[in-house]
Order: sequence, then structure tokens, then C-alpha cells
Amino acid sequence: MAPRCWRWWHWSTWRRTRPPLPGSTPSFRQRFSTQEQPPQICVVGSGPAGFYTAQHLLKHHPQAHVDIYEKQLVPFGLVRFGVAPDHPEVKNVINTFTQTARSARCAFRGNVVVGRDVAVPELRAAYHAVVLSYGAEDHRALEIPGEELPGVFSARAFVGWYNGLPENRELAPDLSCDTAVILGQGNVALDVARILLTPPEHLEKTDITEAALGVLRQSRVKTVWIVGRRGPLQVAFTIKVPRPRKRLTELLLRTATEKPGTEDAARQAPASRAWGLRFFRSPQQVLPSPDGRRAAGIRLAVTRLEGVGEAARAVPTGDTEDLPCGLVLSSVGYKSRPIDPSVPFDPKLGVIPNMEGRVVDVPGLYCSGWVKRGPTGVIATTMTDSFLTGQMLLQDLKAGLLPPGPRPGYAAIEALLSSRGVQPVSFSDWEKLDAEEVSRGKGAGKPREKLLDPQEMLGLLGR
Ligand SMILES: Cc1cc2nc3c(=O)[nH]c(=O)nc-3n(C[C@H](O)[C@H](O)[C@H](O)COP(=O)(O)OP(=O)(O)OC[C@H]3O[C@@H](n4cnc5c(N)ncnc54)[C@H](O)[C@@H]3O)c2cc1C
Ligand SMILES: NC(=O)c1ccc[n+]([C@@H]2O[C@H](COP(=O)([O-])OP(=O)(O)OC[C@H]3O[C@@H](n4cnc5c(N)ncnc54)[C@H](OP(=O)(O)O)[C@@H]3O)[C@@H](O)[C@H]2O)c1
Repeated sequence: MAPRCWRWWHWSTWRRTRPPLPGSTPSFRQRFSTQEQPPQICVVGSGPAGFYTAQHLLKHHPQAHVDIYEKQLVPFGLVRFGVAPDHPEVKNVINTFTQTARSARCAFRGNVVVGRDVAVPELRAAYHAVVLSYGAEDHRALEIPGEELPGVFSARAFVGWYNGLPENRELAPDLSCDTAVILGQGNVALDVARILLTPPEHLEKTDITEAALGVLRQSRVKTVWIVGRRGPLQVAFTIKVPRPRKRLTELLLRTATEKPGTEDAARQAPASRAWGLRFFRSPQQVLPSPDGRRAAGIRLAVTRLEGVGEAARAVPTGDTEDLPCGLVLSSVGYKSRPIDPSVPFDPKLGVIPNMEGRVVDVPGLYCSGWVKRGPTGVIATTMTDSFLTGQMLLQDLKAGLLPPGPRPGYAAIEALLSSRGVQPVSFSDWEKLDAEEVSRGKGAGKPREKLLDPQEMLGLLGR
């Protein structure tokens, strides 16, 4: 295994060797366990990890108070800004999150960037425990020549654009080309391919932004290739069909290796758009147009597998293939960023080193979700993982391992934020923005028209 820049410490060792925290005497523990001191806990990030952690803490500790800090003005993380617009049923989790946020013992503090507006040590001083659930806000780079050319986008930015993430609202991808290539064969790649290929009229009743819909209506993209460096057995995407995986794999293999028969070809001929999977191809270089000003193709290294099954590695054979295209979407995974110099971070794995959610070597600091285990897994996986972090935190609380005495919680942070000119927004502020979005969507028969401009949102809230 690659060397890590941090050290694993088994939690049980830490618990045995660490001197007791000042005040963590039996009488203190007894006091805490009789719950006379409502524990003040804060969670950083309001995606599924943040909300499920908060839900667990509130459910299993009758007095705990949880503040959820969020950098955006709006809650729900990737449920709002990641999940595809044509999968509205996935967004039903928002109902559960809303119930949590409306609890009298929970408060949403939006428009606060932790690590910039307030430092993690400041939160740790104000709360008994801090849970970092800030997800993965970056994308993995391809690290190949030409990656910076116009016409090359990360799938993360493209998804953010059609889902109304404020930082991506100006993306305006040029869809005037004939062929798009998506690099990577995960579920995000499939989402992006579907959005590129779906007739725009089928997206009109979703919560896709009107601006994205306008660009998609003008799209001339006819062919989408989804390129993987390994084979059909190693694809990362999952397909919800009632077919055994073996049958699915056979189908993929056949599609990959055989030309369509006459009947299939006749059926496919009238289709105005087509897509295909390309296996055993690893991105080597984005090829520039003759004037060097934009992407015009991609050079792929032909690969073969070394090893078997899901662990097999792709190694280049030495052959290459050039694929002309005007749009390259790199969908090779998301990546977490370090949040604060005081918080350990493993840059190679892109996670906060932790033992079941307890941040290694930092008592009172926890993590959950993608920043805890890396940028993979669906909402249900994130839920299980966040409940586990919540459980560890409550165990430590019960064992008297968290700082003793009362903590000021938000009162201290509010004063800091105010002195720094930061204007947090509350959950009821979000409910006003939500109502505005729903009302703007009504005319067009959409569930909502998302607000894209933070200044406009603040204006609507009278700030
Ligand atoms: C494009 C895409 C589509 C997906 N579709 C599905 C799907 O259909 N079904 C499914 O089950 N799963 C889906 N997933 C997976 C699912 O979204 C994740 O499992 C889940 O969102 C991870 O939760 P999280 O809370 O760790 O991260 P996030 O959802 O990213 O939440 C992190 C939150 O932290 C906030 N934050 C970041 N930095 C700071 C900071 N410095 N200060 C304060 N707040 C901060 C962010 O703004 C964000 O709100 C999808 C993922 C992607 C990328
Ligand atoms: N509908 C849904 O439920 C849904 C929708 C979207 C996302 N999600 C979830 O969100 C998570 C993230 O999805 P994701 O698609 O971003 O990531 P992912 O599932 O990890 O897929 C990443 C893809 O990129 C490839 N890749 C990585 N590095 C590469 C490189 N350097 N060169 C070429 N290819 C490279 C991987 O190939 P290798 O396997 O060879 O590394 C893999 O095919 C997943 O767990 C996914 O299930 C779920």
C-alpha cells in the first residue's frame, strides 16, 4: 500500500493512553449522562452526511443541540446539485432532512464557509463536538496534455451547471459539435450522457435550470462515447434492471465486441442520437484543433488487463487510437479538499483519516460521508456511514470523553461571524427561497426554477 502522510492510531489505543480531559471525572460523567448539560454539537455540510448525522444525534440524545453549517445559501448538497433532474424520486430524502431541520434542537446556518468565515478550531472551542461532513467539492484531474483546452470540462462542473450550482452557472458549454466523449464509466458518466442525449422536451418538466435547457435545445451533439480504461466486467456504473449481473455483462460484452445484426441496425438507423461504450481505452492527450484554440479530439491509449476481476489493472499495449470530438467530459471521480490546516487530511486518498468517523488524533472531531470514506457510494451508503459516526460520537459523550462543562455553541460563533461581516441564513430563510423557486417553476409546469445567483437570493431575503 502507498505510504500515507499521516499515522493510523487505533482508537482503543488512543483511549487507553490519553490523559483524561480536564473535568472528565466520574462526577462530571455522571452529570453529563444525566443530561443536565445539553451537548452542543455542530455539523459542517448539509448534504446527506450532515443531515443523517444530525438526525441520528437528535434521535438518540434527547437534549443534544445540533447546528448545521453550510457554505451555500441553500441546503441538501448533492441531492440538489448532483442528483440528475430526471430522477426526482431520489430527491424525496429532502422531506426527511426538512423534518430534521425543523426540530427545535436543530438549526441550519447557511452562507457560512467553514475554513474561510470561521476556522475549525473556533468551532471546536464553541462546541462539545464537531462533525465534518463537507463532501467532495473538487474533481480528480486527468493529468494529461490538453486538459485545459476549451471544450474540456469536468463532469462535476457540467452536472453543477445543469443543476444550478451557483459557481457553475456561467459554464455555457458549447454543444455545437457532433461528438462528445465522456471519460470514465461510473454513474456520473451515465447521468451526463443521459442529459446530453435526452430530447430536451423530456426534461422540460424537471427541475433542470432554464438556462441549461436552452443550451440543450440548441445542442447538435449526435454521438456520445463513454470511454473506460478497463473492460465490461470492471465498469463502475450500476444499472437498476431486474437482470442478473452475468446477463448484463454478457450483453455488454456482446455490444462491445459484435457489430449489430441487420435487424438491430435497421432499428437503430432512424435514431437521431446514439451512444456507445468504448472499453480498454485510457485517455492520453486531448488533441487541439488546427488553430490550437479548442479541443478537437482525444488520443486514447489502448490497454489490456493485468490481473482478474474487479481488481484487474489497465496497462497500455503501446497502441493508440484518436477519436475526433468537440466536447470532452472528464468523469473520473470527485475529490475532497482539506478544510483547515488544523484538520488532518490524506491528500492521496482525499479523506480525513479516521477510525469509524473519529478523526485520528483529534478528540472531539468527527467526520461522515464522502469526506470520511472517499467520493463513492449512494445516499443509502452515506446514511449508514453517518449513523455510525453519530453512534461513535454519542458513545464518547456517554464515556465522558468529550470536553467538559457548558459550551456557548452558536452564540459564540454568531458574534464572530457578525464581526467578519458574514450573514448566515436560517432554515426558514431557505423555506422562503424554496417557495419562490416553486412559484417560478409553476408557469412552466416544473417542480421549481432554481435560483442561481446568491446576491439575488440575499436580496429576496431582504439582506
Ligand atoms: C452527480 C451525482 C449524482 C448522484 N446521484 C445519486 C442518485 O441518483 N442516487 C443516490 O443514491 N446517490 C447519488 N449520488 C451520490 C450521493 O449524492 C452521495 O452519496 C452523497 O451526496 C454524499 O453526501 P455528503 O453529505 O458526503 O456530500 P455532499 O452531498 O456533497 O454534501 C456536502 C455539503 O457540504 C457543503 N460544504 C462543502 N464545503 C463546505 C465548507 N467549507 N463549509 C460549509 N459547508 C461546506 C457543501 O456545499 C454540501 O452541501 C450522486 C452523486 C453525484 C456526484
Ligand atoms: N444514480 C445513482 O445512483 C448515482 C448517480 C451518480 C453517482 N452515483 C454515485 O456517486 C459515486 C461517484 O460516481 P462517479 O461516477 O464520479 O465515480 P466512480 O463510480 O468512482 O467512477 C469513476 C470512473 O472513472 C474511471 N477513472 C478513474 N480514474 C481514471 C483515470 N485516471 N483515467 C481513466 N478513467 C479513470 C474509473 O475507472 P476504474 O474503475 O478503472 O478506476 C471509473 O470508471 C459513485 O459511488 C456512484 O455510484 C450514483
